[in-house]
Amino acid sequence: MIQISHVSKIYKSGTVETVALNDVSFEIKKGEFAAIMGPSGSGKSTLMHILGALDTPTSGTYILDRENVEKLSDDQLAEIRNRKIGFVFQAFNLLPRRTALQNVMLPLVYAGVPKEERIERAKKYLDMVGLSDRLEHTSNQLSGGQQQRVAIARSLVLNPAILLADEPTGNIASSQAAEIMEIFQDLNKEGHTIIMITHEADIAQHAKRTIHIRDGRIVNDGNNHKQKKANK
Ligand SMILES: Nc1ncnc2c1ncn2[C@@H]1O[C@H](COP(=O)(O)OP(=O)(O)O)[C@@H](O)[C@H]1O
Ligand SMILES: [Mg+2]
Repeated sequence: MIQISHVSKIYKSGTVETVALNDVSFEIKKGEFAAIMGPSGSGKSTLMHILGALDTPTSGTYILDRENVEKLSDDQLAEIRNRKIGFVFQAFNLLPRRTALQNVMLPLVYAGVPKEERIERAKKYLDMVGLSDRLEHTSNQLSGGQQQRVAIARSLVLNPAILLADEPTGNIASSQAAEIMEIFQDLNKEGHTIIMITHEADIAQHAKRTIHIRDGRIVNDGNNHKQKKANK
């Protein structure tokens, strides 16, 4: 699904160069649930921007769902992003005065899906995240955890190849964070490929695999549950 090979990203401002990613390589297969974890400044956002086709690497290659992404124009990047990636952000990014249903329907409006089908599909995904009873609530009438669940439903309505979540529990209470992790696990069981960026080890632990980055390099990449299985 995803192949990142020898990717580096160097930011230049004036004469100062910052190496944000330094020769990073990994693969993510269809159906995986992987966490990318690292401390502040380790390169997580930079990597997320590249994975999400929001930015391109300085060097190296990136193949997303059989398409080479590293050299595309901005328009081509936007196109691939809309078609293949569902984003979930730390700050939810919902429209505040719109209802849950309207927020989830929005990508379908842009995609030109007829109204009846829009409603049906939006309801299906809101049901998947356990919000069937909140369809007509506006964003500001929902808790942080509920808003993030709306954002997850919205990220899925166009059937993306991968779900990319950037610190998805960063703005919500820890009791609700557990619910979000449960939803990701359920979605993953249904076959969704999920990549989650986090700086918290206990959040990363909910994924099946954790890729640790530090100073722009991968320092560890392993199965989260191997240890437990080995002890059984
Ligand atoms: N646009 C930018 N210009 C210059 N340096 C940047 C830019 N974005 C990030 N950096 C630097 O790159 C490194 C990695 O940043 P970032 O990817 O945001 O890390 P994280 O998300 O893990 O905190 C940091 O040293 C940061 O200061
Ligand atoms: Mg960051």
